[in-house]
Amino acid sequence: MLRSVVTGVGAALPPDIVTNDDLAKFVDTSDAWIVERTGIHARHRAAADMPTSDLATSAARQALAVAGRSAADVDLIIIATTTPDLTFPATAAIVQRKLGAPVGIAFDVQAVCSGFVYAMAVADNFIVRGMAKCALVIGAETMTRLMDWTDRGTCVLFGDGAGAVVLEPMSGEGTTADRGILGFALRADGTKQDLLYVDGGPSTTGTVGKLRMQGNQVFRHAVVNISEAVIAAAEQAGITLSQVDWFIPHQANQRILDGVARRLGINADRVISTVAEHANTSAASIPLALACGVADGRIKPGQMLLMEAMGGGLTWGAVVLRL
Ligand code: UT7
Repeated sequence: MLRSVVTGVGAALPPDIVTNDDLAKFVDTSDAWIVERTGIHARHRAAADMPTSDLATSAARQALAVAGRSAADVDLIIIATTTPDLTFPATAAIVQRKLGAPVGIAFDVQAVCSGFVYAMAVADNFIVRGMAKCALVIGAETMTRLMDWTDRGTCVLFGDGAGAVVLEPMSGEGTTADRGILGFALRADGTKQDLLYVDGGPSTTGTVGKLRMQGNQVFRHAVVNISEAVIAAAEQAGITLSQVDWFIPHQANQRILDGVARRLGINADRVISTVAEHANTSAASIPLALACGVADGRIKPGQMLLMEAMGGGLTWGAVVLRL
């Protein structure tokens, strides 16, 4: 059977770093509060002339180089983003042009912070059906563009960045020893929209809008929802959580990472955490964390990975893969 195998990983962060103390200069907050409640110390912020597609293109180039592929090989580009360059075309089509990739399939997936998990599942379906041979799955965001900089409950939480993987088909035996995507769980509950949303859009206000969140309500749902999806994805993959080498969570809040790990009996030393330096980069946070873990040598080929996320929608989900 065909499996979708990650053959390259890349990341991009804008050079400008904003510390908690920088934020405390113009909003009523403190480094102590942000660190204690979220684990965040700093975030990267894209300059006004750096669109999401630049970050995505840079992460994609790195992932292609690691995979030993060139833009000419790419036949599918899926970008998970909630901060596209333009209302249309899809940022994936813009990245296709910037990479110089040939005519192929390119579109965006909008599932907010769960976008990368959703996009991996979508790409997997293209690959196992033989519809793509070299797919780029990218999570890319300029979340700082959606901030209300007077709202201390949200503006301290988010950052910008991008992460990318190359997915290629390889034949497997149909067992959990195979490399590639082994299972996933995807969920959405549109009745919880009011907990986390942006108050603008092309067909309502005609504006981009600002992010609004009832943080403590979202927090309450996060640990329960994520844990359920993790268990469902592991069951679908046919593995137990003890077989997972690395948990790569969406990086929203260190307390959520810790809460999910505690609930599922996962040791903190098996969890990749980048929230301290990146903050919440929405759909980019999982591939960014993956890229960090690979770059520093913790995550190795052949290991079992479990990625999970929850975000606006509400949406949530998890994906299991062997690298
Ligand atoms: O990626 C999408 C998913 N998003 C998330 O998963 C985020 C989930 N939520 C969270 O991470 C947390 O709920 C927050 C970090 C947003 C907030 O932490 P909390 O422990 O839930 O605090 P809270 O909202 O209950 O607020 C506690 C207090 C409030 O003051 P009062 O009303 O008790 O006087 C807030 O006004 O903390 C205050 N507060 C702040 N104080 C200093 C809220 N934000 C700040 C701030 N600096 N930045």
